[in-house]
Amino acid sequence: MRSLLRRRHNSSPAPRPSTTSHRRPARANAHGTIARRALGPLGAFIHRGVKFAPGLPPPHASHVGGGGASVHHRVRHIASALVTDARALMTLTPNEKTLDPPEGFTVLQEGKARILQRENDVFYNKAQVVNRDLSLSVMRQFQKVRAKEHAETKRAPKNRRLKGDMCVTPRDSKILPHLMTPQEIEDMFRTKHDEPETGDDDKKEPRDKKDGEPETGDDETPREKPPLKPVRILEGMAASGLRAIRYARELDDVGCVVANDLDPTAIASIARNVEFNAAHSAEAADRVNKVVPSAGDVRMLMMQHEKMFDAVDLDPYGTPSTLLDGAVQTVADGGLLLVTATDMAVLCGNNGEVCWTKYGAYPHRAKYCHEQAVRILLGSIDAAAGKYKRHIVPVMSVSVDFYIRCFVRVYTSAQQAKLAPTKVSYVYQCVGCDTFECQPVGKAVTKGNSTKFQAGSGPVVPRECPNCGWHYNMGGPFWTEPIHDMEWVDAIKKQVEENKAMYPGYDKIHALLTTVSEELVDVPLHYDIHSMSHCLRVTPPPMALFRSAVINAGYRVSPAHCNPLAVKTDAPAKVLWDILRCWVKEHPVKPIPEKTPGVVILSKEPELVANWTRVHGAFTKAQREGVTRFPSNPEENWGPKMRAGRPVPGGGLEKQGMTKKQRTEASK
Ligand SMILES: C[S@@+](CC[C@H](N)C(=O)[O-])C[C@H]1O[C@@H](n2cnc3c(N)ncnc32)[C@H](O)[C@@H]1O
Ligand SMILES: [Zn+2]
Repeated sequence: MRSLLRRRHNSSPAPRPSTTSHRRPARANAHGTIARRALGPLGAFIHRGVKFAPGLPPPHASHVGGGGASVHHRVRHIASALVTDARALMTLTPNEKTLDPPEGFTVLQEGKARILQRENDVFYNKAQVVNRDLSLSVMRQFQKVRAKEHAETKRAPKNRRLKGDMCVTPRDSKILPHLMTPQEIEDMFRTKHDEPETGDDDKKEPRDKKDGEPETGDDETPREKPPLKPVRILEGMAASGLRAIRYARELDDVGCVVANDLDPTAIASIARNVEFNAAHSAEAADRVNKVVPSAGDVRMLMMQHEKMFDAVDLDPYGTPSTLLDGAVQTVADGGLLLVTATDMAVLCGNNGEVCWTKYGAYPHRAKYCHEQAVRILLGSIDAAAGKYKRHIVPVMSVSVDFYIRCFVRVYTSAQQAKLAPTKVSYVYQCVGCDTFECQPVGKAVTKGNSTKFQAGSGPVVPRECPNCGWHYNMGGPFWTEPIHDMEWVDAIKKQVEENKAMYPGYDKIHALLTTVSEELVDVPLHYDIHSMSHCLRVTPPPMALFRSAVINAGYRVSPAHCNPLAVKTDAPAKVLWDILRCWVKEHPVKPIPEKTPGVVILSKEPELVANWTRVHGAFTKAQREGVTRFPSNPEENWGPKMRAGRPVPGGGLEKQGMTKKQRTEASK
């Protein structure tokens, strides 16, 4: 099928259509309305007379049934679309037509979504299929949990927002009718002048409720919890709309998917792709009708729609740092926030000062840097949430390929927000050896019914590392609470296994979920067995043997999803060094004349005798289940892609690899 893709691409060398491609980019007006002529070749017939203003009823239904004659005149049935796995596609969309793309476009298929692509006019990165698949799997679990919680609780969600004259949502917001009922909108905009005189001092801001106090929900009068609404999703940076269309097509009970982008070319592409997908079947049309294209800066959109989305997906180029403040305001109580960061160089410690300015944390250049990246982002999201008396609960947070992706729930609770300093730690990293220690920034001391919040105690380390004698650097604060909820991870893994055909990136996400499910969730960061062995100039012990020795010494140990050589353990560093000292006794190393950290470590006798007897727990779940933990990438150039609008090196979509300079730029 890939050869078909290439053949097809070669046989129609994507000439830039004279009518559209040299024009100025499509312009969206303030309401996201796209000029019809800017929509490219499809616009002439599919989009005739249709304004793509968010809020207008989507236009495609009539094209699908009998009314689609004008569509048929250009869209011809062909033997096969350009897909990566034809069999999977047949299973996913068995009763759908296969339509020919308009001239100059190719069709990219992922899951149930089809995307029309013309060179690099709108961002598309095939490697992000893992990101999108994972997001779908987490969303499915979120919907399940959300429905269960709703059935089991009497409490209305804490979605208090500014109202009346103080309301931050513009009255003419085109997406608002997709997010609230007419009654809710009327209530939100009602001012004191509209209210009957009560004598209350309603100029006063409503006071924040204490935890446990009955909640009032979306309006001010105490009431029963409202019925569960279908999920309202924001894809804040939607590019081609691929992800938004997958959400709409592949998830059940979706109220709407607002597909927002700042780039007018992207908005035109979203509209075109919605239209193209709708033309494939009535069912497809029904579902993609839920996608609401929206043009604008996502930061503004989020701030203007307080607590109105059940799920918010942010997938920027580079850092999400400037998006977090808005993100934590727009997610409804208990909602899901999905955030990508690709600025790995920054998060992994290459530019500590930049990391500080963006995320408020100082990174270490250490072997655990990818896990550190995840923990920096989580700490930064929670810090943003705290400003609004909100807090996060991570459900899964991963480092994949060239980016990290965090899935967290956002809750409103002034009491929980106060615990924020207890959830982050400074991390002392020895500069000589791999030893590190975490020191919580704050602590909560509970006596009887009262809880006092205090600064954390420290330092937790002496001036010099007790193992090697070198000094420490202090980094952080990093999130040191769990980064996954294992109930979620196990349920997601099971669900993915049961619906393999739904996930084009199955092999990678299944391996990832397996490795995540093995992690010790209450142990922040990890050691790297090769790095520790290198410090002693000894060949590393086999992983299972080393893990066995740690378990036999009375501690817990696990791998980590972000580093095949990781040892996650609650054992103190001293125990790990002792085990390695024992290993060196059995595998002597050449004496080194100068004083190195390794020489200092080996100059001390171990206080424990390593027991190398292999134990069951030393083998990973993946080993036991026969899953390849770190499968190789399916193809070359499995990495970040350049921004849209830049010429594609070598011309073809298949060759969108970046130069070293472009990669560096993308990671800033
Ligand atoms: C990496 S792409 C998104 C890819 C997409 N989520 C997917 O899965 O294919 C980033 C997108 O963010 C858009 N963007 C950048 N800054 C933005 C902003 N402030 N508001 C909205 N969109 C923005 C860009 O135009 C680009 O289309
Ligand atoms: Zn040390």
